[in-house]
Amino acid sequence: MARILVTAGPTREFLDDVRYLSNASSGRMGYAIAAAAVAAGHEVLLISGPTERPEPAGVPCARVVSAREMHDRALASWPRFDVAFGVAAVADFRPAQRRRGKPPKGTGAVTLELVPNPDVIAALGAARRPGQVVVGFALQAGEAGADALAAAREKLERKRLDLCVLNGPEVLGSDRARVTLLDADGGDEAWEELEKPAIAERLVARAVALHTAREEAS
Ligand code: CTP
Repeated sequence: MARILVTAGPTREFLDDVRYLSNASSGRMGYAIAAAAVAAGHEVLLISGPTERPEPAGVPCARVVSAREMHDRALASWPRFDVAFGVAAVADFRPAQRRRGKPPKGTGAVTLELVPNPDVIAALGAARRPGQVVVGFALQAGEAGADALAAAREKLERKRLDLCVLNGPEVLGSDRARVTLLDADGGDEAWEELEKPAIAERLVARAVALHTAREEAS
């Protein structure tokens, strides 16, 4: 039995009390990973941004809204866990200021100042103790083939991931996906197209096996 932390869904970055910036993540992949981990007998905490998706049965779920909330919640929980899956589509930027109420739109163009959000999975990678396993996703929209693979490897290294799951933008909102799994030893495997629950099951098994191997080696 392993203890598995999963971030999922989009985050919302409010401009004022009504308007926000977000993205098209449905939360499906992260929820599938949390459900697969519970079904395999693991202890799970799902840290989820706002989605319409029902919480998977039997999965403790912490609801967050913004990237900073997700970051703080994940980092505070991380010492109690063995494996982290970063599946959330965290908004990369937030408005420099959040205004109160609903300021009128006015008549002209508006320029927004955006500031970078913390990277949740990179923070977990940086804070990890020996034996903990960190799995991230790389959503590569602009590149294909070798370029996408190189971009995913760069993310794996920069965020200090043990495994990185590469997929394309067609994955958003879809039931199925074709992923490539990269590991920290320089390996990569292209998987056949699968339903997200099947991908989730395999990813959980791989990450837990890596964790077990590390525990045994230490
Ligand atoms: N991620 C995160 N926190 C962020 C941004 C991304 O935890 N602020 C995680 C995602 O959950 C995913 C991985 O980082 O596991 C890669 O996300 P992706 O959007 O592909 O990468 P970015 O770091 O946003 O890089 P870029 O926008 O340059 O492609």
